[in-house]
Amino acid sequence: LQRVFSGVQSTGNLHLGNYLGAIVKFVELQKSFDCLYCVVDLHAITVPQDPIALKANTREIAAAFIACGIDPKKNIIFNQSQVAEHAELAWVLNCVARIGWLNRMTQFKDKAGKDRENASMGLLDYPVLMAADILIYRATHVPVGDDQKQHLELSRDIAQKFNNDFSESIARNGYGDAFFPLPEPLISGPATRVMSLRDGTKKMSKSDASDYSRINLSDDADQIAQKVKKAKTDPEALPSEEKGLEGRPEAENLVGIFAALSGRAKIDVLRDFGGANFSTFKGALVELAVEKLSPITAEMRRIRADESYIDGVLREGSERARAIARVNMDAVKDIVGFLR
Ligand code: TYM
Repeated sequence: LQRVFSGVQSTGNLHLGNYLGAIVKFVELQKSFDCLYCVVDLHAITVPQDPIALKANTREIAAAFIACGIDPKKNIIFNQSQVAEHAELAWVLNCVARIGWLNRMTQFKDKAGKDRENASMGLLDYPVLMAADILIYRATHVPVGDDQKQHLELSRDIAQKFNNDFSESIARNGYGDAFFPLPEPLISGPATRVMSLRDGTKKMSKSDASDYSRINLSDDADQIAQKVKKAKTDPEALPSEEKGLEGRPEAENLVGIFAALSGRAKIDVLRDFGGANFSTFKGALVELAVEKLSPITAEMRRIRADESYIDGVLREGSERARAIARVNMDAVKDIVGFLR
């Protein structure tokens, strides 16, 4: 069975990077796979969250999924905290994963900063919970942006080690020679790494202090226009070949965003805009971004207004997810040797 799982944190400021790097692919994959799309609220609390905002952000991400075109009937849309098996499997996997593996995670090092002793235990454990999210459904494919590559490699290592550590018991319980499939990351897509509008060497991020660094899916046309106009550039005109973007991270990022939003290759964008100055290009980019994003923003707002509808989608999704998770968790219990 081929099954897709992916997650988005309920931390607010859903942005163009999340959209182009992940959600666009979620929408595409629903055509050919059984998909689970999860609002990962357990991951969100690895850094402090305001409880009222956390609930609102959970609804916001669910609304965004639906507004972007994910069908909540065909796919399973739910929030992580409502399926206890995620946390339950994470405990077992904590006993499989090695401390050294987690200490090497670059995202932990970035997020924990200098004061590592003061980071939450959850922040260090974040990638193990991610592995549990995927493996509890024995998912085979995981669409993510480029920044999640290392975490996906760790998920595969954890799955592999579980399969090895318990190989005899896995066979004895009738699961053959491997219980967990090694999940395959799906990182290709229109834009696997969208960069900050203020600094082309930093990725666009929900947590950047400057709202001008990102285009949020909740931004209106004026905000998009202002942010694109203020986006950092360099003094040169746009090149007509891709090679000319080398060493010009801001130019490369804006051209990449244009290409992704228009569904074309960078070189085709440069064929149209090579030799143009940034003010011309930015004008066209604003027009394109507003054209593509404002229907989503409007739809998000419409869906968001109906809380009982969103809560119903999440509740039903959680039930459907739990039905799959429970069977797999029982199997894990048998394999590990928990008497039940
Ligand atoms: P989150 O919420 O930080 O990001 C959600 C998705 O957006 C992608 N992304 C980007 N893609 C391109 N350019 C960017 N600037 C950019 N910023 C973010 C992320 O790669 C991600 O695909 N840890 C996950 C959430 C998660 C998960 C999982 C994913 C929890 N469990 C299991 C897959 C499978 C995360 O980064 O969420």
